[in-house]
Amino acid sequence: MSPRAAAQPPPLGRVGLAAPLLQGRDPGSARPPSPDLIVNTATPSLALRETPKVPGLPLLGSVLGMARDPARFFLDCYRRYGPVCRLSMLGQDYVLIAGPEAANFLGTREGKESLRSREFWEGLINEYGATRTLTSEDGEAHKQLRDIMRRGYSKESIKGRYNELIEITDRCFARDWPAGKRVPVVEAMQYMVVDQLGTILTGAAPLEYVRDIRITILHILNVLVTRQRPKILLKRPVYKKAKARVFELGQKMIAEAKARYTRIKPEERNLIDDIMAAHIETPDVMPASDLIVTLTGPYVAGLDTVANTTAAIVYTVLKHPGVLARVQAEVDALFAEGAVDEDALLKRLPSLQGAIMETMRLYPIAVAQMRTATRDFVFDGHQIREGEMIYIGTSVPHFMEEFWPEPQKFDIDRYAKPRAEHLQPGAYSPYGRGPHTCLGKSLAEVQIALSMARVFYKLDLELESPDYQLKTKTAPTPGPAMDFKVRVKGFRH
Ligand code: HEM
Repeated sequence: MSPRAAAQPPPLGRVGLAAPLLQGRDPGSARPPSPDLIVNTATPSLALRETPKVPGLPLLGSVLGMARDPARFFLDCYRRYGPVCRLSMLGQDYVLIAGPEAANFLGTREGKESLRSREFWEGLINEYGATRTLTSEDGEAHKQLRDIMRRGYSKESIKGRYNELIEITDRCFARDWPAGKRVPVVEAMQYMVVDQLGTILTGAAPLEYVRDIRITILHILNVLVTRQRPKILLKRPVYKKAKARVFELGQKMIAEAKARYTRIKPEERNLIDDIMAAHIETPDVMPASDLIVTLTGPYVAGLDTVANTTAAIVYTVLKHPGVLARVQAEVDALFAEGAVDEDALLKRLPSLQGAIMETMRLYPIAVAQMRTATRDFVFDGHQIREGEMIYIGTSVPHFMEEFWPEPQKFDIDRYAKPRAEHLQPGAYSPYGRGPHTCLGKSLAEVQIALSMARVFYKLDLELESPDYQLKTKTAPTPGPAMDFKVRVKGFRH
């Protein structure tokens, strides 16, 4: 890695779930809210607190701690300094607000009015020659875009198509998981995700573009969104070629969606059709310049998130043979009966659901959300100024013993009643919080549950050794390292 690359700011992951309610300001306690946690923009009546500054290396600041393990770094800051502190990286100052207080803040009116996302996504927008994306907007403009895409991104788009999804998934096993071979899990999952999302959301899986999509996303997220790699990487021929191919795919999608517009009924539209209808009927809301970034959006939103999460689940389940046995018993019973519906997925696979939720707690792809302050406001007695860059450490509570007894332990029974540890306010935010909460959440839940059910039903997998410890990567999205491999011993069914 070049020194420049090594010195880039750390991974951010994606961002924030909404549930109001403020927690106690004493880090590590889940006491009721203290009065001075209340956020306001008016002159605070209580004395402001001095915000602690995280000590760091000259210029580099906190880069190294963040690059090593951002989730750990944010947790340490929260423990040492409380819900608010300041840090710097490469000369840029940031405010970190973390813990259940911060997670809950994202969903409050004050949070919505005090935070915006634009700056974070600006580089991606410019790269596509667009004016905006769903992720970059807030307020009314954001609501308009979410309304256009809500149905297409919802699990309605997958209703009645579970068996089609199973066929796609099995096809991926036959292609990418040969018996007797060691398979790079993240990459194999990336191919599976593009195949699944392409077919379900857009009507066709653009498999011949998978490599181009992966290269383009990797570069754009690393360089322009999370800003962990130098801009010079965007001059690489491999990126330029891949980006041109993604634009070619975008143009094809536009042409096909235009041709379909007059042919299909509104109730038959998929995500792509809804976006095209918005463009034709309300071009001021969805201008031509924004079509490519919006139409190829599902791949940016779903590729790394689902691939990293499913790869991590392969690891956690194989690492715990007792959990593997429980999961296999459930999926064997389910698929022995043939066709699958949503009810079966949610109710008949409690161990698998627990394993998925527990993996998403311990390996969150969204360690923090990044926002800019739209105005001066006071959080937990600390003054935050308009224009300041803010990390919102929503994954910090995932590792707090106040919410999760033995937080480092992989315990898939935490989520069932009466324990239901995830339901404590602010404790669990794998899909983010607030207005930008993952729009594909319900779809992703079905996609992940069905894919993992099929993985453990079909494939007989083993880790390199029983004491194998997963290595993780932090860029562009936190998750298992690309060289994480498992051996396919054979097919179970
Ligand atoms: C493991 C699976 C996934 C996780 C953990 C996840 C997580 C997240 C998070 C944390 C955000 C919030 C970003 C922010 O606040 O800035 C987000 C936004 C979003 N996600 Fe997901 N996501 C997943 C899968 C998907 C999938 C499969 C899709 C659809 C194909 C999707 C579509 C979206 C969209 C469209 C947004 C933007 C919402 C907005 O800005 O209003 N996600 N996701």
